[in-house]
Amino acid sequence: MKKKPKETSIGPWAKEKLDALHQYLNFYTTVLKNQRHWLRGTFYVDAFAGPGLSRIRTKSRASESRGLFGPDPESDQAEAEFLKGSPRVALDIANPFSSYLFVERDPYRIVELERIKAQYGDNRRIIVQEADANAALKAWLASGIDWRRHRAVVFLDPFGMQVPWSTIESLARTKAIEVMINFPMGMAIQRLLTRSGVIPECWQMSLDTFFGSQDWRTITYEEGKDLFGPKAIKVSNAGARLLEWYRTRLRQAFGNVSTARLIKNTRGNPLYHLIWAGPNATGLKGAEHILRKGESVRPPKGRHRGERRQKP
Ligand SMILES: C[S@@+](CC[C@H](N)C(=O)[O-])C[C@H]1O[C@@H](n2cnc3c(N)ncnc32)[C@H](O)[C@@H]1O
Repeated sequence: MKKKPKETSIGPWAKEKLDALHQYLNFYTTVLKNQRHWLRGTFYVDAFAGPGLSRIRTKSRASESRGLFGPDPESDQAEAEFLKGSPRVALDIANPFSSYLFVERDPYRIVELERIKAQYGDNRRIIVQEADANAALKAWLASGIDWRRHRAVVFLDPFGMQVPWSTIESLARTKAIEVMINFPMGMAIQRLLTRSGVIPECWQMSLDTFFGSQDWRTITYEEGKDLFGPKAIKVSNAGARLLEWYRTRLRQAFGNVSTARLIKNTRGNPLYHLIWAGPNATGLKGAEHILRKGESVRPPKGRHRGERRQKP
């Protein structure tokens, strides 16, 4: 028997991500609004759609509602703050996309997404798909869309390293898709890059697939030695170097890439970066304006070994 779904709660930092997405989608669809003479349709694809509505976790909520007899469930309810997830953000923009595809692996979240679809009725063309994001994107790309006359934004917002480089490359090849990517540096990548340089083989394979290259090794580690002989040493700015390398590769694949906006948790720990990439210079202007507003990340000083090896 399947477990009952837990209520979805998210950290307050998700607001920052969703605000940036909202601003970008507004910008994008407003710009495309005046291009109706050649454009046949626009798609918004949310490959990791989530539940559509989540409760924001707040520390104060629990402590403030704690009366003499412990937490007061009623005041807890009253103070709960809910946030529209990315699918609703995309559905509610002033100039909607012509079609929406929401992909989600979790069957309970699919039920929520189907509910959203029913709420919007005939006002929006929505497809909800219970599937693995990469498989769904592959099938969508193979469905015969004429990319000379269609445009799309794909939001890639996983919890971890679920988007392999091969998916990014397939999206870029259309020359018509813009992506907003959650680059999970703090949430996932850094956790696999051990200080000692001894990395289990399955982690190495995950990193190879995610980056589509093995160069992360030389970018993250230098050869050194200790009392016992040669040893891999993790460079102090490994995160910044990897991020810059990933951005460089996105630029090579798509043509344009934005500044990476760092999203931190309430304790100030880095969680992930939001990065935009796309074929269009106007898209870059909009994305840059939006993503630079937060705490963006400067590239590390000097070139690093991995970057030098990239083709121009
Ligand atoms: C960070 S949440 C998405 C939040 C949503 N984009 C938002 O901002 O409201 C990631 C979602 O991806 C789903 N997920 C994880 N792995 C997946 C996969 N391989 N394919 C599709 N969905 C996946 C999870 O169930 C979860 O709902």
